[in-house]
Amino acid sequence: MDISIFGLGYVGAVSLACLARDGHRVIGVDVDQAKLDLIAAGKTPVVEEGMVQLMADAVASGRVSVTRDERDAMMRTDVSLICVGTPSAPNGSQDQTAMLRLADDLGTAMREKAGSHVFVFRSTLIPGTVEDVLRPIIEAKSGKKEGVDFHVCFQPEFLREGSSIRDYDKPPFTVVGANAPAPADKLRELFGHLPCEFITTSVRSAEMVKYCCNNFHALKITFANETARLCEALGVDPFEVMSVVCKDRQLNISPAYLKPGFAFGGSCLPKDLRAMMYLAKMRDVDLPMHGGIMPSNRSHIDHAIAKVMGTGKRRVGMIGLSFKVGTDDLRESPLVLLARL
Ligand SMILES: NC(=O)c1ccc[n+]([C@@H]2O[C@H](COP(=O)([O-])OP(=O)(O)OC[C@H]3O[C@@H](n4cnc5c(N)ncnc54)[C@H](O)[C@@H]3O)[C@@H](O)[C@H]2O)c1
Repeated sequence: MDISIFGLGYVGAVSLACLARDGHRVIGVDVDQAKLDLIAAGKTPVVEEGMVQLMADAVASGRVSVTRDERDAMMRTDVSLICVGTPSAPNGSQDQTAMLRLADDLGTAMREKAGSHVFVFRSTLIPGTVEDVLRPIIEAKSGKKEGVDFHVCFQPEFLREGSSIRDYDKPPFTVVGANAPAPADKLRELFGHLPCEFITTSVRSAEMVKYCCNNFHALKITFANETARLCEALGVDPFEVMSVVCKDRQLNISPAYLKPGFAFGGSCLPKDLRAMMYLAKMRDVDLPMHGGIMPSNRSHIDHAIAKVMGTGKRRVGMIGLSFKVGTDDLRESPLVLLARL
């Protein structure tokens, strides 16, 4: 396939080298001439294990070219992977300056393109960006219609710096958010051979999946580290504890407890969490993440109350009051709390 890649940082450069290795013809585009010169000379613009050889081989194969000319790259390819940076703005919001500028240029180039084109957004983008921001820009600039003259889709990237080539070849899954079969089919041609599930979703879900995965990873690291701080203060070996915790594949490292639903309650979780928080307080151990769990659980109940009140109904029936299915235990059941309020 003929592919253009916009943005040759970690994601773009690794994708370019791997796609060329896999036999595709790839055109790399970046605003940074130094990166283009490096790649043209068969050198890698990013420091990653295996990239020196991979890039040298990819460029030697003759399947890689680079340019600063976005229009030319788009004209000569069927698919564009868009991998420009989306860093944090000072206020924490996502800085989409590079992406917005590029969408403008791609839309302008699309005006002149005779055939169809698939735009695959691979940068991490807040949910709604592709459909509500980027698609309208490309449509306005090109005077063409998405779904008819071109396609947009979102494919989150899951590679990690330091192991990016291995991650490229063995991702946890391939996720494609698309509104039509055509763009997903194109990406299946490119990535369908990878040893993982190929999942198609709505564009917004795919955008959110990327954030959700990163949040979950951050949460896991923080959980382990807070646990370690408390263990240390109690004279317990955190490595021994966490290694046993991770051996439980039924409840701990599993899909258990990860389906969205109502607040937790019952005879164990709230009381044991409180006991741990008290212990941490007594030992001057700061555990903000653990400390946020009970308030978050309470927010979930408040959210449900607001939803019920929002219906405007005065008579509300409830089926079941226990904290979970299959028990009559009402201790700290959030449904009892909900009924009382
Ligand atoms: N680095 C990672 O491990 C990783 C993993 C998964 C997802 N992501 C996401 O992928 C995106 C790219 O990340 P990265 O680390 O590769 O970024 P990066 O900052 O290393 O590279 C971005 C590149 O885009 C180029 N660029 C900017 N404007 C451009 C334009 N108009 N046309 C062409 N090129 C342009 C920049 O010069 C730069 O080379 C981000 O949204 C990031 O969140 C990164």
